[in-house]
Amino acid sequence: MIRTAHMEDLNAIVDIDQFARISEERLRLIRKSLENESVYVAIEQGKIVGYCVFDHSFFERGFISLLIVHPDHRREGIGSDLVKYVEKLCESERIFTSTNESNTPMQELLRKVGYRRSGVIDDLDPGDPEVFFSKKAE
Ligand SMILES: CC(C)(COP(=O)(O)OP(=O)(O)OC[C@H]1O[C@@H](n2cnc3c(N)ncnc32)[C@H](O)[C@@H]1OP(=O)(O)O)[C@@H](O)C(=O)NCCC(=O)NCCS
Repeated sequence: MIRTAHMEDLNAIVDIDQFARISEERLRLIRKSLENESVYVAIEQGKIVGYCVFDHSFFERGFISLLIVHPDHRREGIGSDLVKYVEKLCESERIFTSTNESNTPMQELLRKVGYRRSGVIDDLDPGDPEVFFSKKAE
């Protein structure tokens, strides 16, 4: 089951996102996104096992800025389900996302659910370019 997340879900979200436990910046992003109702959580047997942040702040296009699945629940289709869920909420003609060049799992997922490479920005993460992907929204 996937639903919009609320502030009460913050602790459960941080529990599955190791980076949120050490990064104030990530925590701030999650809080702000929860306030804006742009966080979506995947729930299995009553527990949050994955989340994504999706909004239309990227050139007014639908954009998935974060997608995280609990390490114990990877390769179960949860990441793909979250992507497909927010695609249905997309109000622009194309939906966009990005990931580091080094992130093979995310790129494989995106390829599998029909995204194509849209371009690269070199200077966000020095040494690991940010690759943008997009797909025609349905
Ligand atoms: C990337 C991530 C979200 C994928 O989530 P997931 O729920 O495991 O993905 P899915 O089960 O939907 O995988 C769909 C397909 O993607 C590909 N894929 C996923 N993980 C992969 C991996 N580790 N290696 C190679 N291909 C992979 C496979 O083709 C997979 O299909 P298959 O399992 O039938 O072979 C997850 O690995 C994760 O949370 N990573 C850490 C955070 C991150 O990097 N997020 C992305 C940028 S914000």
